[in-house]
Amino acid sequence: MIDLSVDLAGIKMKNPVMVASGTFAYGREYSEILDLSKLGAVVTKAITLKERKGNPPPRICETPSGILNSIGLQNKGVVRFLREDLPFLRGFDVPVIVNVAGDDIGEYVTVSRKLSEAKVDGVELNISCPNVARGGIIFGTDAAAVAEVVSAVREAIDVPLIVKLSPNVTDITEMASRAVDAGADVLSLINTVVGMAIDTDSFKPELATITGGLSGPAIRPIAVRMVWQVAQAVEVPIIGMGGIVKVRDAVEFLLAGATAIAVGTANFMNPSAALEIIEGLEGFLRGKEYRSIREIVGRVRM
Ligand SMILES: Cc1cc2nc3c(=O)[nH]c(=O)nc-3n(C[C@H](O)[C@H](O)[C@H](O)COP(=O)(O)O)c2cc1C
Repeated sequence: MIDLSVDLAGIKMKNPVMVASGTFAYGREYSEILDLSKLGAVVTKAITLKERKGNPPPRICETPSGILNSIGLQNKGVVRFLREDLPFLRGFDVPVIVNVAGDDIGEYVTVSRKLSEAKVDGVELNISCPNVARGGIIFGTDAAAVAEVVSAVREAIDVPLIVKLSPNVTDITEMASRAVDAGADVLSLINTVVGMAIDTDSFKPELATITGGLSGPAIRPIAVRMVWQVAQAVEVPIIGMGGIVKVRDAVEFLLAGATAIAVGTANFMNPSAALEIIEGLEGFLRGKEYRSIREIVGRVRM
């Protein structure tokens, strides 16, 4: 038996493979294709206090080895999420982590508190969304603001607090350290990388918001580098993501120091990608004669 289980600051996962926020909605559609109970954890699309419509279209554009998106924070608001989606997700034997966004610290705190009271398995603070005018990345790219929002939410909740970092910074380790000092139990990285594409017929930007967030295999080496750097700088567990499509991609992140990984854009191409990676991890470890996934975390050889 290969032991794939991991413990993320008290979140007990059968395996280290979760789905990345915003690429799995609230799990309902995917549940018709795959058994959610087989995942390490489900992470929801960002939730805010009130319902939001997101950005105007076009808001997705294909690029070489990735996609640019500017969905913004389209969601139904925390009250409807708690009423309509959390009970549904609770029907599966899988930890539910809820991604939280806000315009200001008050919104982050209020939404996170409601989720904590509802006993979700973890709150993931999205302080790194590049596609909104207020909040989001503004918090994630200013070290003092990272500390302020993380400590305010930390005081308000008593479930594990995951902070999702932005790659759009000069020094990711500074943001990571500030988040941990302020009370983050786990870090997840990376969110999307700010990018832009232009239609050479119309001469217009491909996205209505002009710039958007790049995801998919194109960003994987950036993400692996950042996970490796952050793993040297902090002691808390890391969830690594960015362009993971197949099992060897996931292994790269584990070797760099991630305890768990998330599959994002790949879900759009192959809804079973996460499950295939779970099976693949077992085969990978067996082939190398390891008994536990934890034996390879951070084991990149220099
Ligand atoms: C369409 C789309 C929507 C996303 N929405 C969110 C979100 O609501 N909250 C968040 O923290 N990250 C969001 N992300 C970022 C992903 O969770 C992930 O960090 C990023 O896409 C990198 O992983 P990937 O290359 O495997 O997609 C979104 C990404 C995409 C492509």
